[in-house]
Amino acid sequence: MATHLSADAQREPAAPMVNAREAVSSDWRATLPVLKAKGITLRELRVSDAASLLALLTTEEVTRFISPPPTTLEGFERFIQWAQRERKNGRYICFAVVPDGYDTAVGLFQVRQLDPMFGTAEWGFALGAAFWGSGLFVSGAELVIDFAFNVIGAYRLEARAAVENGRGNGALRKLGAVQEGILRKSFLRNGRYLDQSLWAILPEDRYRSKAVWGAKIS
Ligand SMILES: CC(C)(COP(=O)(O)OP(=O)(O)OC[C@H]1O[C@@H](n2cnc3c(N)ncnc32)[C@H](O)[C@@H]1OP(=O)(O)O)[C@@H](O)C(=O)NCCC(=O)NCCS
Repeated sequence: MATHLSADAQREPAAPMVNAREAVSSDWRATLPVLKAKGITLRELRVSDAASLLALLTTEEVTRFISPPPTTLEGFERFIQWAQRERKNGRYICFAVVPDGYDTAVGLFQVRQLDPMFGTAEWGFALGAAFWGSGLFVSGAELVIDFAFNVIGAYRLEARAAVENGRGNGALRKLGAVQEGILRKSFLRNGRYLDQSLWAILPEDRYRSKAVWGAKIS
């Protein structure tokens, strides 16, 4: 995206743990399932994540190419409450990224509908800089992509990344996303209009990227 931490609660009830591939009938509007892979858990954001997100996602290096996040604890709490409401309304999902050994979120993955059926969706992501290059992003991204295609039922997942955002574009490229074009001067940040790359992943891109990874490993 344009990762947006926009805002406007309640503590969620404990969520069932679900393998995204098997959870086709999961009612994520009622309760967001917990997704797990090696070293990482993705779960619903909790108001108690606000302090950690404030500390980790408001640094200059994280925010340079994304929409400005809240600047206060209360602002993050409002964002989390907004995210929970939007999920219940079926328009948006925000997963907290929790590495093994942690209790609170160190980042997030957002997915929002681009049409009322949620067939096309846009996603965005941010991690605290201490976790960059750790493998956490790819593990979480794979869970979210599977969730978007297999549980939400999306058939196209778009992302926008400022052209100058080397890590953001590099991260999307290595997932197998296809760069479809440049959106000229589409993102206003710090008083400058930035060009953005439009990336999209379709289910078939996903299988192709796995085949490439398989070839690299063997
Ligand atoms: C985007 C983000 C979640 C990715 O997580 P990450 O842990 O940094 O991602 P990874 O390290 O797994 O992948 C980034 C890739 O980009 C590559 N990369 C880094 N700088 C690059 C550059 N200037 N040009 C091209 N590729 C670059 C890295 O080498 C890496 O590829 P590799 O693993 O093959 O070496 C994280 O960087 C982040 O939170 N950034 C700030 C918020 C943000 O910009 N969000 C994206 C909005 S689209």
